[in-house]
Amino acid sequence: MSTNEGTGGAYGSFPGARPRRLRTTPALRRMVAEHRVHPADLILPAFVREGTDEPVAIGSMPGVVQHSRDSLKKAAAEAVAAGIGGIMLFGVPEEAKKDAEGTAGTDPEGILQVALRDVRAEVGDDLVIMSDLCLDEFTDHGHCGVLDAAGRVDNDATLVRYAEMARAQAAAGAHVVGPSGMMDGQVAHIREALDGAGFADVAVFAYTAKYSSAFYGPFREAVASSLQGDRKTYQQDPANSREALRELALDLAEGADMVMVKPGMPYLDVLRDVAERADVPVGSYQISGEYAMIENAAAAGLLDRDAAITETLTGFKRAGASMILTYWAVEAATRLLR
Ligand code: PBG
Repeated sequence: MSTNEGTGGAYGSFPGARPRRLRTTPALRRMVAEHRVHPADLILPAFVREGTDEPVAIGSMPGVVQHSRDSLKKAAAEAVAAGIGGIMLFGVPEEAKKDAEGTAGTDPEGILQVALRDVRAEVGDDLVIMSDLCLDEFTDHGHCGVLDAAGRVDNDATLVRYAEMARAQAAAGAHVVGPSGMMDGQVAHIREALDGAGFADVAVFAYTAKYSSAFYGPFREAVASSLQGDRKTYQQDPANSREALRELALDLAEGADMVMVKPGMPYLDVLRDVAERADVPVGSYQISGEYAMIENAAAAGLLDRDAAITETLTGFKRAGASMILTYWAVEAATRLLR
């Protein structure tokens, strides 16, 4: 044992152990940093709106837009230039195309499939192209599944729709599909559908522990959601963490290639638990409400925006994430992480 460490470092009345030594200069701090965010870790969630020629600002998410087909292609090219890992696409169909079954979500000419083909044609395999696999953007009632006669979300009838959606998205060029509806058995069903249609190489990035969160608020405007009621019968209760491990075991058994914990900041403990147990890559989703909180607090002069963003991204890595979905992905990769 070295002379002063064993006693906690004390000699005389002064400390011998001085952790501050390694914090002395920026170069030292950078060298000993245990975690850092790499551009390739980042995934940009992006919205594409049907029937618009110009990107449309999203009031609830200052700085984020609903893309037109053209502006989405440009954003995908920028994402490649920035060196980020991937893009996760969300479709915003024309209001008149929403129906109870979310037909536009499986139509080869539906906006999400059109956008997937556009982006795949634009960037090929230079970016991992992912698609949200969920019905809520396409249903007139706004739920993530189809409803039974009593108006409840019908798990097994929804699985049939998810299987169709998976095939439509894979056919349109998705490298990865991201089921976010929290239906029981969704990963197995989607895997089987993909394999049966010749898409064995299309990966499933499961939203494994997705909580029923107040922080999705701004997203609902982003996708013009018409949700009636709430999602508490399918998304997880924020009070539960053991349940996340059960969902993890199921998703892994069903063939998930990657798993996600969502939202980000309020669930770092769950992220840690999942990262410790999963033998597949783990992602964290920093969602719309987290984005809006920081942007609005920064705009009000309450915190240093860039430092706050960097700190939150680093926090996800520290908690065990390999990948982070964040609306700041391109900005972080091009400016903040340098
Ligand atoms: C469901 C879905 C949601 C988000 C991603 N996928 C909304 C929800 O579950 O209500 C939220 C993303 C965000 O808030 O940034 N398709």
